[in-house]
Amino acid sequence: MLRAFRPSAMAIFRIVIVLVIIVFIFTPPEVHNVFKSTILREDDVGAVPAASGSGVETDVNIGDLFDKGKELAEDNSSTATDPLVVTPSTERGQRTVYLINAPRYHFEVVIPFLHAFSSLPNVDLTLWAGNEGANRWGVRQWLDRYSQPKTLKMRSVDNFSKAAENGAAVPDLIFLTSCPEDIRRLGSTLQVLLDHGAHVMCIIHESRLFNLNIENEEDSPYKNEIKFMRPWIQKGQWQLVTLSQHVQKFVEQNFAEYFQTGTQVTYSPPVLYPVFKLPKEEVQLQTAKPFVTIVGKLEPWRRNYSKIFEQYAQFNPPVDLVLVGNGNRLPAPDSIKDKLIYKSGLEFPQYFAEISKAVLILPSFATEHYVQSQASSSIATAVITVTPPLMTRQMLSAYAYLAEDAVWIQEDDETEVEAFSRIANLGQDKWRAKKVAMADIRQNLVNENMKTFEAALAALDDHVPPRKVTIAQQEVKKASAK
Ligand SMILES: *[C@@H]1O[C@H](CO)[C@@H](O)[C@H](O)[C@H]1NC(C)=O
Ligand SMILES: *[C@@H]1O[C@H](CO)[C@@H](O)[C@H](O)[C@H]1NC(C)=O
Ligand SMILES: *[C@@H]1O[C@H](CO)[C@@H](O)[C@H](O)[C@H]1NC(C)=O
Repeated sequence: MLRAFRPSAMAIFRIVIVLVIIVFIFTPPEVHNVFKSTILREDDVGAVPAASGSGVETDVNIGDLFDKGKELAEDNSSTATDPLVVTPSTERGQRTVYLINAPRYHFEVVIPFLHAFSSLPNVDLTLWAGNEGANRWGVRQWLDRYSQPKTLKMRSVDNFSKAAENGAAVPDLIFLTSCPEDIRRLGSTLQVLLDHGAHVMCIIHESRLFNLNIENEEDSPYKNEIKFMRPWIQKGQWQLVTLSQHVQKFVEQNFAEYFQTGTQVTYSPPVLYPVFKLPKEEVQLQTAKPFVTIVGKLEPWRRNYSKIFEQYAQFNPPVDLVLVGNGNRLPAPDSIKDKLIYKSGLEFPQYFAEISKAVLILPSFATEHYVQSQASSSIATAVITVTPPLMTRQMLSAYAYLAEDAVWIQEDDETEVEAFSRIANLGQDKWRAKKVAMADIRQNLVNENMKTFEAALAALDDHVPPRKVTIAQQEVKKASAK
């Protein structure tokens, strides 16, 4: 009779199940939600951060700013390879992660996410990259640096399919840095890995172009990629990711229609921040003549150079305008030609170091896309180099991860050059305060990236290692024929 009081194996099993369910219910929601597109995030995307208090005005040479900027940019308190700031939120097993970037560009986006994944414990990370992009412009040395404390494990995307055919670990998570290009290049193998249970996160860069409802190719070039992703989104194995709050909002509002998923899917992509801390020895600032800068390739459809040039000619501010980036020289009025300085052909480290010497970055958007549906690299560069950008309040509300105390505000009744000329008279305490605030924001964003990845990895089921499949060649062929 006594035997009846001893719990049977079945009873123990039931108790364990109940405990597991209880633990699951009380786990913070973000841990479950990273792969559940159906749950909306409650971030107040539209909120403009409160204005900071105004400091005391002092009359100081603008050149002094560079000394302050130099100190901050060198920031010896910590390095690119900080000790881990984020501890895993839950107990989880080892995770295998593939970080992928097939095209030649976007390595400035790879670096922050390489750093974030590498900083987490129990992550086996492989970077699959295009050889050309990874080995030009000094990129490679930074890939090594930002994979610390781990050692960079990098393989060529050219070998991606072959590796799968020869028997590869099915990764727990695949992160696509250049989503449509990565799918185009590696889709057939991705399909097979997804079939074997891998999860994907992919960055949506130009979100307005992902629209099945538009006929013409130019405005909707990614129809095949949408159709590729869609079934996996519906299964909860594919999560879209954005690089700023305004893009997150755009995706939330439009993608059910764009992807033709109706009410089946609610899109709520997390925001990751394409920013990282500059290594201090790469920043060799000199206190030279003060200048402002426009950054990135000299592409007039991205940045309105002629508008700034006209204002310069009219207002004649006493500072140089340095154009840091590759491309052909731009047409400019003769009267300002001695104020325009071109810096091109720079390697990655010099590119960021050069920008960090500037007083401010002029984003000078040539299109509304940068406040509606697409994240600007000028804004990310401003954070990376702790060089505050000049922004209208509308711009600031789009990039809600910034705050008014870390950027320069262009008032409604000012042109960019008028705003800059006013800022040039503010004095070094105020300039310094902006840089300090930006350095704080940068640190927070770097930490946020790690938290988001940790939550994503924790949300995946533990599996029994080793989880290795050999993908038959015909399986890859079949998938690519779809
Ligand atoms: C960096 O370190 C040097 C010497 O250790 C120190 O003099 C300097 O003030 C430090 N700078 C910052 C921004 O902490
Ligand atoms: C592909 O892998 C082979 C070895 O498996 C290596 O010799 C070759 O260099 C790799 N190809 C590229 C483009 O990296
Ligand atoms: C650049 O600005 C000028 C003057 O404000 C404007 O007329 C022009 O349309 C703008 N160009 C672009 C590409 O936005």
